[in-house]
Amino acid sequence: MSASRATAIAPSNIAFIKYWGARDLDRAIPVNPSISMTLTRCASRCTAELRPGSGPDELAFREAGGELRTPGEGFSRPVFEHVERIRRRYDRSGSFRIATENTFPSAAGLASSASGFAALTLAVTGALGLSLDPRELSSLARRSGSGSAARSAIGGYVEWPAGAGDDEAHAVALAGPEHWDLRNVVAIVDAGPKAVSSRDGHRRAAGSPFYPVRQRLLPERLAEVRAAIAARDLARLGPAIEEDAIELHLVAMSSRPAIFYWKPGTLAVLEQVRELRRCGVEAYATMDAGANVHVICEPAAEDAAADRLGELPEVRTVIRDRVGPGPRLVDEHLF
Ligand code: DP6
Repeated sequence: MSASRATAIAPSNIAFIKYWGARDLDRAIPVNPSISMTLTRCASRCTAELRPGSGPDELAFREAGGELRTPGEGFSRPVFEHVERIRRRYDRSGSFRIATENTFPSAAGLASSASGFAALTLAVTGALGLSLDPRELSSLARRSGSGSAARSAIGGYVEWPAGAGDDEAHAVALAGPEHWDLRNVVAIVDAGPKAVSSRDGHRRAAGSPFYPVRQRLLPERLAEVRAAIAARDLARLGPAIEEDAIELHLVAMSSRPAIFYWKPGTLAVLEQVRELRRCGVEAYATMDAGANVHVICEPAAEDAAADRLGELPEVRTVIRDRVGPGPRLVDEHLF
């Protein structure tokens, strides 16, 4: 066996309806369906090289523009576990040399496990000579334990159904990226690592007295978001995604022990988004398990949203992203 190498680029995604709470955390089987928009600029690139023999797998990581370095155990362990999971699934031997990078600025403090595990899954299966369709890629990326990676396997507007909890569960496309040109202006108010991982957040979610309330409200909101996407109706989509983001944080803040992801800058941006709407700029906010705010708007509102949010003293930087296609194999290898 000679060495074979593959490089994948996979996008991140922003959830409109959040995955929060799992039936099975290790296999990322969610309690509720989630819906997201796949992004363009916030992405990960991963090169995997399969070598003969039974040597150890190796991993290097870099942020955009930085040097490749050996990451710490907390970063590398789930990566090595996922590589081993793929090797066993396809009954292959050999060891992997892997390098991975995020294409967005390291100072951004944005979560990258969804794009990272989608890129890793595509690069490793590519190096094995396998060609997975998007659903197989989604299902396999999900098993990394980073459930949102299931959505990053698919472009455009994506739903990951809660399903029956089987191990083949995967996300599906609701509409391609060409269906609706939505923008995501990300206001970075905190670049540090989040205090509590999503994994711990999922684990604590069911302890919140508001968790069952959110579950009761979700079917109607999911239907609203699906319909708004189908109709390209931002006035319908926006309020639903803001409500869902606030409820995710309400559940987190009322978990035991409580989880506070918001910073003062989060509230400053939320207030500014309301002010933008009062001035006729249609823009709506959502936050994942962190302090940074993703502001969703159409192209005509993007400049105004980016300018006004960038002026806030609490905002360190603004990243302009947009809806985009799913992962792909490329020839620009990292080594
Ligand atoms: C709040 O278990 O996918 O972003 O592995 O850290 O990406 P990571 O988390 P994961 O949970 C995602 C939680 C969320 C909502 C969402 O993306 O649906």
